[in-house]
Amino acid sequence: MDYQGILNVIEDKLKGEKLDGEVATYIPELAKVNPDKLGMHLTSVIGEEFHFGDSEERFSIQSISKVMSLALAFITEEEEKIWERVDVEPSGDPFNSLVQLEHERGIPRNPLINSGALVICDILVSHLKNPKQEYLDFVRKIAGNTTIDYNEKVAKSEKAEGYNNRAMINLIKGYGNIDNDVEEVLDFYFDTCSLSMSCRELAQTFVIFANQGKLLQNQKRVLSEVHTKRINAIMQTCGFYDEAGEFSFRVGLPGKSGVGGGIVAIYPNMYSVAVWSPKLNEKGNSTAGMRALELLTEITGSSIF
Ligand code: DON
Repeated sequence: MDYQGILNVIEDKLKGEKLDGEVATYIPELAKVNPDKLGMHLTSVIGEEFHFGDSEERFSIQSISKVMSLALAFITEEEEKIWERVDVEPSGDPFNSLVQLEHERGIPRNPLINSGALVICDILVSHLKNPKQEYLDFVRKIAGNTTIDYNEKVAKSEKAEGYNNRAMINLIKGYGNIDNDVEEVLDFYFDTCSLSMSCRELAQTFVIFANQGKLLQNQKRVLSEVHTKRINAIMQTCGFYDEAGEFSFRVGLPGKSGVGGGIVAIYPNMYSVAVWSPKLNEKGNSTAGMRALELLTEITGSSIF
């Protein structure tokens, strides 16, 4: 498949389309990003790399980090214990919604919305000696890249303004589903969201989910096949909040978005792909990012459906 030729076609098409949206401003540091950035990178499971635009520039991956948190939780906690505390159903609600939590007595709908990721972070805080460092080491390991790091400014900016997440974690703690100190868990959660990565680095990290849980560099297994299948299934059904159906409908791949404007998707046994454009639609997903991936699966015929 001529992926580079296809990416070039996608770049041209995107430039000719009117793809509106607003940069996230509720995290003040994110409001400073140039809204016109656009990059895309595809890594195939045989190690080929294809890209265009600002694909080498790092940006705030935000909620995309929730996938790595879940993967690390699979390695550090017995699986049944995770599912006693978080469900695996699509929420149909915004990523930061509190409404279901009261009805469902502090059990978040899934690990890829904020409430679920906070519970996963609590699990990691309970099991890891130095969660911040060990989480970073884990991401660096699956990325095959030791230079990936947190962005302290972004983390600090969200820590100062994270009223909604603070309300949420306190509500969950009220239902007995947070074991550790809420500020400690929140701090760790904001750090994970602040990871700064490029499209290239994201595609190279997520290729493990297209490669049945094995690292591309040496084919060493990090995640079991069952865990990899489950992560992909949860990305498919829950990766885009109240737009998960729309993403499945238009793109047809498991994926995850972040309010920094990044989206990653994988086509099992074939490739992972990351796209970045900071202008978000009203659901908090990158407008151009969704369109780019829709074009990719249409042109290549590589949707899982
Ligand atoms: O907790 C938050 O609100 C952000 N750190 C992450 C939200 C996010 O990326 C949702 N994605 N579309």
